[in-house]
Amino acid sequence: MAFEMVGVVGLGTMGAGIAEVFARAGIQVAGVEADEQALARGRAHLERSTGRALDKGKLTPAEREEILARVTLTTSRADLRDADLVIEAIPERMDVKAELFAELDRLCKPSTILATNTSSLAVTALAAATGRPDRVVGMHFFNPAPVMGLVEVVGTVVTDPGVRAEVADLAVRLGKTPVEVDDRAGFVVNRLLLPYLNHAVTLLDHGVAGRDDIDNAMKLGVGLPMGPFHLLDLIGLDTAYEIMNVLFDESRSDRHVPSPLLRSYVAAGLLGRKSGRGFYGDPGDGQQEKAPARTVHVVGSRELADRLEAAGFKDTEDADVVLQVGGSTPVSGRTVRVQLKGQVAELATSVLTEQEAVLGARDLLKIAGYTPVPCKDRAGLVVDALLYCHLNDAVRMYESGYASIEDIDAAMRLGCGYVVGPFELLESIGLAKVRDGLRDLHAEWRSPSSAPAPLLDKLVTAGLNRFPRP
Ligand code: CAA
Repeated sequence: MAFEMVGVVGLGTMGAGIAEVFARAGIQVAGVEADEQALARGRAHLERSTGRALDKGKLTPAEREEILARVTLTTSRADLRDADLVIEAIPERMDVKAELFAELDRLCKPSTILATNTSSLAVTALAAATGRPDRVVGMHFFNPAPVMGLVEVVGTVVTDPGVRAEVADLAVRLGKTPVEVDDRAGFVVNRLLLPYLNHAVTLLDHGVAGRDDIDNAMKLGVGLPMGPFHLLDLIGLDTAYEIMNVLFDESRSDRHVPSPLLRSYVAAGLLGRKSGRGFYGDPGDGQQEKAPARTVHVVGSRELADRLEAAGFKDTEDADVVLQVGGSTPVSGRTVRVQLKGQVAELATSVLTEQEAVLGARDLLKIAGYTPVPCKDRAGLVVDALLYCHLNDAVRMYESGYASIEDIDAAMRLGCGYVVGPFELLESIGLAKVRDGLRDLHAEWRSPSSAPAPLLDKLVTAGLNRFPRP
């Protein structure tokens, strides 16, 4: 199919981004919204996004005009009659989407492919609302759509394989990489990403660490492009909560129970960037307690001791703060246990650690060039607790036969901007280290989902540090 004209229904953040992606690829787009006001918001999205590219010199004024001219905005769904493909990006309500699909089925020419950008609802149920279930697919883009390189192409049991292939080819024409998956809650990316984000909210809710500290831990300690709370604000807390509910409904796994704190934010209307405030955006943001610099004694890291000495601190045994690098024994009083992860220094504090020592340690680590992450002394602290469970989810997904290692790695790299995919990361950390870390987490939290995936355990037992690939 030539795909000369496509329709996009719903011009919120995702819909407007998708319309831009098609227009940039030289395809005529009819963008449909419910009323003139919503249409004006959609136009503003498009103008802002292409304006940003213009300011950065990525588009010339003429190219920008051409892109905008390719998008016709309308409030009439009848204008989609001759579209080769219509993709919907309206709010995630099954009744409203099913009604839209039934209407599109009546309005559009018989060859039109009907696609949904749903992140959580069953594509099969939408296909069943039409008289052309073989021509209905999921075409799932990632936020921001003009930037992220992945499209999940979701086929159902009734999708014509030729249609699925045509849509995958179209994704390539848009400059994206398609990953073809079956219709399962969360597909690949959201099924891996959202439980990890929800886990971060649980750590915050349990007071294991603060919002900024968790974000710093994952961005600077693991190298992810954004911390979990910044990413939740980008995705939308209501969307995230909805996806968690859908995952739980399908799996009934403890890993997929939506965090009550996430629910509270949603109930309070704090939805993230789209509402102006989510985990970030509080007027009190950015205030920090101050603690004076102190004398220090470093145990277990020559490098840290040298950095502090170079900054003018004298290492003395009776110092106010003792930084004990590594180890797993609980510490108390003026001793703070430190785990160094890249640029990040996790500071594990027990119920017996003096608050003054924690504040002093935080300042000292900053002076030594690390980003301190004060946290409660729990198994895995912040980084390993979040990361190892996330990696374990990827192994379980592969083990279930839903997606290949290559597709999972590609999906997380291109859909979420990871530098390396979960399997590449797992192998670079070491399978045995991750398996043992998961065992510690499981021993502490007893949640079934934190038990190492059987495949991971077997590979470690067999002495392997690599997943078998065909
Ligand atoms: N619209 C258009 N372009 C945008 C943009 C937006 N909203 N936000 C950023 N960009 C562009 C910038 O213009 C810039 O372009 P150039 O490289 O051409 O100059 C580029 O993206 C990088 O942006 P910045 O330099 O401003 O910022 P950054 O380096 O921090 O990157 C980011 C921003 C691309 C968003 C990066 O942080 C990232 O990859 N984050 C992860 C995002 C992610 O995980 N998305 C998936 C969420 S899950 C989802 O969407 C599915 C679902 O169903 C919920």
